[in-house]
Amino acid sequence: MTGSVLFERLGYEPHQGQLRFHASDARFKVLIAGARFGKSLAASHDVLRDMLGRETRGWFVGPTLALARPEYDYLVLDARRRLGLAAAREFRSAQGHRGLTLVNGAEVHCLSALQPQGLLGREIDWLVLCEAAHLSRDAYERFLRGRLVSRQGRLVVATTPRGHNWIEELYQRGLKARPAWNSFRYATWDNPRVLPAEIEEARRTLPGPVFDEQFGGAFTGASGRVYPEFEPARHVLACDPPAGAVCLRGIDFGFTRPFACVWLYADHDGRICVFDEYYRAGGTALDHAREILRRDEALAARDILRGTSFADPAARAEREALAQGGVPNQPAENALLPGISRVRQALLPRADGRPGLTVHPRCVNLIREFEGYVYEEIRGAGEPLPVKGNDHALDALRYGVMGLCSRADWRKFGLLW
Ligand SMILES: Nc1ncnc2c1ncn2[C@@H]1O[C@H](COP(=O)(O)OP(=O)(O)O)[C@@H](O)[C@H]1O
Ligand SMILES: [Mg+2]
Repeated sequence: MTGSVLFERLGYEPHQGQLRFHASDARFKVLIAGARFGKSLAASHDVLRDMLGRETRGWFVGPTLALARPEYDYLVLDARRRLGLAAAREFRSAQGHRGLTLVNGAEVHCLSALQPQGLLGREIDWLVLCEAAHLSRDAYERFLRGRLVSRQGRLVVATTPRGHNWIEELYQRGLKARPAWNSFRYATWDNPRVLPAEIEEARRTLPGPVFDEQFGGAFTGASGRVYPEFEPARHVLACDPPAGAVCLRGIDFGFTRPFACVWLYADHDGRICVFDEYYRAGGTALDHAREILRRDEALAARDILRGTSFADPAARAEREALAQGGVPNQPAENALLPGISRVRQALLPRADGRPGLTVHPRCVNLIREFEGYVYEEIRGAGEPLPVKGNDHALDALRYGVMGLCSRADWRKFGLLW
């Protein structure tokens, strides 16, 4: 089936940018574009063609499983519902990796680069790197690139840019090394289905370089990022406290803005693991206290001990209300820049290459805030400060981390910082 006949059967009408991408028969295609351009949809439809004719094997790989799911879900939906192809077999591993074999023997797998050992061993015919700018160069070079060799497999890299990282090099290669490579770069507004009002809203509310990167699809080196060290591929890790661990909480208050609480502990090495979050706008102090206690009880049932809660020192009334609800707490150290600097130090890799702070994938708001927290543009003299508003779970984390460092019994490790 040619591309256009297939797309017609799927009811897929690629827009101009997607058409150009599909029309290229380069073996290595790099699609850089702003959010909502239609990268995932295009990548998925592009490789669906490969699955129909032949007994191929392909992988969608993302920095986490959740980030590879849109492409995988688009493909499965198309194959089964729109084309009525019977699945011979579906599989799911304990780590959540999933896949599907069609009756013609073609296989698709959805994988996370967080478990690189799962990425070894098999030869594949196509590989899509989803949200590739968040993958490490190492994961690509050591675990992924080699899979394509023996079957002359093809590669699709689909992502928004992220500063001047290794993806920009791949993009440049696509411009130079034709015809084997080909690169494409578009903005969100190249997708005619995205409403201009949405784009204008983003333009108004985001710092310029971030807008240019996330919507303009530009390699801006945006990155007034406050936590440039944070890489989901490195720092998002399923870590849960063992029995006997003492857990602390960091708490930031909000009513119309979200209330945020994060749970963390330091392991025997003094590495910090943030393993849960509670994030909610609009609740009362009593609602929050109840939810925190509920989670604490679940931890207590696993013999995990409850340590101190460190909360925003400026919010005295809220702290008292929370204490009355059964969550005693103490005022946290609130100096912003020293707190940020502590968290940044904790994010750095230690001698063994593993970072000093990891975040459980269930902490979706904290992860999102880590990614989107940026400095104001510098106007005049003076230190720029982070842009307010995208910082609730991050403030809670900062309080927890400062609380952890202030505790004498942790200082004895001498390893923390
Ligand atoms: N050619 C198209 N036809 C219809 N809808 C599209 C098309 N391209 C993208 N979309 C829709 O636009 C939205 C964003 O697409 P997606 O592929 O998830 O974007 P990205 O991965 O670039 O963020 C989705 O709702 C998708 O279904
Ligand atoms: Mg996408």
